[in-house]
Amino acid sequence: MEFKSISFTGAGRVGSALCAELFKNGFHIDLIVSETESRGKLLAETCNSSWSDRPVFPVSTDLIIVAVPDHRLTGVLNSIKCPSHTVVAHTAGSFGLEVFPDKLKKSGVFYPLQTFSQGRPVSFKNLPVLIESSDDQIYASLKKLAESTGAEVYHSEKEHRQMLHLAAVIVCNFTNHMLTEGKKVALKSGFSYDILKPLISETISKALSVGPEKSQTGPAVRNDNNTIEKHLDLLSFSPELKRLYSEVTKSIISYYKEKG
Ligand SMILES: NC(=O)c1ccc[n+]([C@@H]2O[C@H](COP(=O)([O-])OP(=O)(O)OC[C@H]3O[C@@H](n4cnc5c(N)ncnc54)[C@H](OP(=O)(O)O)[C@@H]3O)[C@@H](O)[C@H]2O)c1
Repeated sequence: MEFKSISFTGAGRVGSALCAELFKNGFHIDLIVSETESRGKLLAETCNSSWSDRPVFPVSTDLIIVAVPDHRLTGVLNSIKCPSHTVVAHTAGSFGLEVFPDKLKKSGVFYPLQTFSQGRPVSFKNLPVLIESSDDQIYASLKKLAESTGAEVYHSEKEHRQMLHLAAVIVCNFTNHMLTEGKKVALKSGFSYDILKPLISETISKALSVGPEKSQTGPAVRNDNNTIEKHLDLLSFSPELKRLYSEVTKSIISYYKEKG
């Protein structure tokens, strides 16, 4: 089974990135289905495709990639009308094959372990893609598709993948949130976000090269309680951030206490 002609449901961050990558690698993009006409048409134009708001797919489609928010996934899968030979794969890390309705017999999961944003091209070279299917042929075809982009394929069942998705949320989304809060505090100090950039850069680079456990510095790991008290006082402008500072500080202290 070879995927030559691919359609998408969802023209958001993942749908757009995958669509651009596959189009660049010579795949034919059959149809883009999305709710918002402007976004769907824009994506369709970039890959010589067409747009529809109806999830009815032509006989020419070999594979439908469903990249919609997780809370819409079941509803969208149920609404799909496609020929019986068409494979349908979703891109959600925390869900498996159980979300597919019985009528979609050829199914799979194609989860790219990366953060995607609109208008920001991402290299697929060595990008981990976690694949699952109960059908060996479908699995092999999804693997071949991912490998054609230079991605690194991993076989994964839901139990492992959802735990990895949790790890991804912690390292990516939580880090971003910390950066957002740190930026706000820097602005309060009268400096711009830019002054933090060498620190952010070295933090990530050190965590990658020597590992995050060995990289920790700061008042919590040094038991500088006088500094921690000062910071909590300074945070009187934001009870929410004060709570977050306090919880993360406690977590750092207990991690290094346990390690001895
Ligand atoms: N973003 C990431 O970094 C990332 C990474 C790996 C996996 N994922 C997974 O990929 C999936 C999509 O995430 P995303 O970040 O790309 O979401 P997103 O940017 O919010 O895009 C979702 C897209 O789904 C469309 N949509 C919503 N309801 C629909 C429906 N009923 N029919 C057709 N299209 C519909 C939206 O349409 P409109 O354009 O009209 O709003 C939008 O284009 C999720 O399962 C997520 O867990 C995300």
